[in-house]
Amino acid sequence: MQRELIKHVLERDDFGSTVTVAGWVRTRRDSKGGFSFIELTDGSIITGLQVIADNELPNYESAVLRLSIGSAVRITGTLTESPAKGQRIEIKATEVEPFGLADPETYPLQKKRVSFERLREIAHLRPRTNTIGAVTRVRNSLSYATHRFYQDRDFLYLNTPLITASDAEGAGSMFRVSTIDPATAPRTSDGEIDYAEDFFGRPTFLTVSGQLSAETYALALDRVYTFGPTFRAENSNTRRHLAEFWMVEPEIAFADLNDDADLAEDYVTYLIRYVLENNETDLEFFNRWVDTDLLDRLHHVAESGFERITYTEAIGLLEPANDSFEFPVVWGDDLQSEHERYLTEQVFKRPVTVTDFPFAFKAFYMRRNDDGKTVAAMDVLVPGIGEIVGGSQREERLDVLADSMRIKGMDEDHYWWYLDLRRFGSAPHAGFGLGLERVVQFTTGMQNIRDVIPFPRTPRNAEF
Ligand code: 4AD
Ligand code: MG
Repeated sequence: MQRELIKHVLERDDFGSTVTVAGWVRTRRDSKGGFSFIELTDGSIITGLQVIADNELPNYESAVLRLSIGSAVRITGTLTESPAKGQRIEIKATEVEPFGLADPETYPLQKKRVSFERLREIAHLRPRTNTIGAVTRVRNSLSYATHRFYQDRDFLYLNTPLITASDAEGAGSMFRVSTIDPATAPRTSDGEIDYAEDFFGRPTFLTVSGQLSAETYALALDRVYTFGPTFRAENSNTRRHLAEFWMVEPEIAFADLNDDADLAEDYVTYLIRYVLENNETDLEFFNRWVDTDLLDRLHHVAESGFERITYTEAIGLLEPANDSFEFPVVWGDDLQSEHERYLTEQVFKRPVTVTDFPFAFKAFYMRRNDDGKTVAAMDVLVPGIGEIVGGSQREERLDVLADSMRIKGMDEDHYWWYLDLRRFGSAPHAGFGLGLERVVQFTTGMQNIRDVIPFPRTPRNAEF
């Protein structure tokens, strides 16, 4: 169907030409002089297009005056220089073709502002709002920029499986994938469900990370990245956790923790600069309505670079502030979100990369440091959010990896293929995972992670 996107129309200046647009009515005002102002949006840009429709139109009464908020319509008209303040152009309609109307009595998105909580209950309609439209465009930019960043650096885009038999993080918070009907489940002699009879002949789950598969390819093709959905059955109801989220995971051969941190910092900086350059009107909107510090913070982070400290140094900085924390920390504790934010917002006022965490609470695959206590891990923390990247140098020594797995209570036989990588042509390698939604939050200022993914999956919530 012929029409031009509003974002392109808004760039034109060939006044007098005919244009056709299609979209949804954001507002309609009728003037006494027998004409109406319609603001039309089509999602291509946050700015609406002003259309003037007058009663000379044959269907003015039957169509134009029935165009309520949310109605879909196609309009052809003359591109005109606008006399009004705040807009450069408008369209003088010569043809109005309505599609579905939206009953003002029942359509929930009227002029009055609707809370983000309420919008989650109508997640199928919320893309019509300014905010969710802008979030969607920023999210799209971040995905595109991700591919550009890695492709420009010779990484191969790798598709790793979503169904897996391995617990990549060794954290045990996985969703089971099964075709067994619980009512008629086959049982072993001791009464347990017999997964040998299941679809894959063994227990299988939705993956928590593509990393282990990515390692197999990095140790053949030098540098790869995955970008896909990951699943975690953690029962955490926070503003930064989802049960289904999207993760970008690069993996590089012949690399140590420093190379890994360099790559992560370059990538995060690239993403911020990309949206600053390509989503200007969206970021201005967020800066005005959602988080008035957003633009200052993004510009600052794009310029300031990252602080890099060890976990042990971080604990040294946090301990004196223990009185102000809900969870005071000592060496050996994992960092909570309040500690991450204290480091980035109070101490350094910029992103911080924390390295060399205790072995005790980190994953089995991380490379053990010579001190015998820590591993070559890193987390990138940003103001307002906390952790957006988690990564490590991987343990490339067969005997040390096997030892770590034994200590963590893992079945080595089950990971035979992963250990094979250390038996044949092992090499130092490293990688990380970046949570896409956390970066969308960071670059939009949106407080709740449920509002930066189209249909959030969280405990007790899988509507839509
Ligand atoms: O730190 P995580 O758990 O690291 C891994 O999964 C590694 N296997 C990655 C790797 O080295 N290839 O997760 C990485 C990132 C976190 O920093 C966070 O941004 C995001 O994934 N993340 C979540 N985002 C939303 N909801 C959740 N439940 C998340 N869990 C992790
Ligand atoms: Mg982590």
